[in-house]
Amino acid sequence: MQNPQSTNGMDPRPIGVFDSGVGGLTVVKQLMSLLPEERIIYFGDTARIPYGTKSEETIVRFALENSVFLLEKQVKIIVVACNTASAIALDRLQQVFSLPVVGVIAPGAQAALEQTRNGRIGVIGTASTIRSNAYVKALKALDARVKIFTRPCPLFVPLVEEGWIEDEATYLIARRYLRPLMDNGIDTLILGCTHYPLLKSVLQQVLGESVVLIDSGIETARHVEGILKERGLRAPVGQKPEHYFYLSDLPYKFQEIGERFLERSLPHVETVNFEAFVSGKGRSFWERFERVVESTPVK
Ligand code: DGL
Repeated sequence: MQNPQSTNGMDPRPIGVFDSGVGGLTVVKQLMSLLPEERIIYFGDTARIPYGTKSEETIVRFALENSVFLLEKQVKIIVVACNTASAIALDRLQQVFSLPVVGVIAPGAQAALEQTRNGRIGVIGTASTIRSNAYVKALKALDARVKIFTRPCPLFVPLVEEGWIEDEATYLIARRYLRPLMDNGIDTLILGCTHYPLLKSVLQQVLGESVVLIDSGIETARHVEGILKERGLRAPVGQKPEHYFYLSDLPYKFQEIGERFLERSLPHVETVNFEAFVSGKGRSFWERFERVVESTPVK
């Protein structure tokens, strides 16, 4: 169904993206390059990162809160850039909200199946993403014959944030993490975490050129483009793309780390008192929740 807010298949409202922190900027980077006329509102939950080690209940709650924040900014689609939140909370968000909510798992799984030649696919991600089996389920649902080998790689997140990319320690850890996947003969590896695209060159060197790396960010941006086109939600031609970045905390070296992820300078960054937002200063969170659910246009 076409969105009532779109005129002639055009919709100037922004794309909303959330992540547990700065990592989701790897997805934003791909959205910006594929959809240069779209506005983006980004929320990075830097006060509550990491999600990768938290319980399912907590991750679902955070994902709902982050979505309400974006919906109050009148976004037309929500992109869950965080693999952990996509793995655990996407179904819930799609049940609750009537606008399109897109995660990174299905697009990554689809791309991996298109690339594999021997049907042996590796998946790496945070402990919660791997434990959830979300990639395994998504891959199996598309092709039951495929063999999947998974491995949590929790040390990659702090290494990337520390800027230790082409570092001896990173190579050592990557070799250790990837060895079992290599022994299993994978020919395709899904980078199932926002931070891992920054390690592409290290991972490629460790795995060898014959293994194809799947960057879920690129695949998700393509998927978002498809949905916007299909539903008449594309930005008007020539729209000036303004982007807003909100964080629940301004972490040390944020600018530097953020720019490393985005590969361009970060404009407009604002810190939000998210605790007050959630605990309901002014208006209670559930009142906000109900309001956005009621006012969200049909899919
Ligand atoms: N954004 C998370 C992910 O993609 C990584 C960081 C975290 O653990 O919150 O899974």
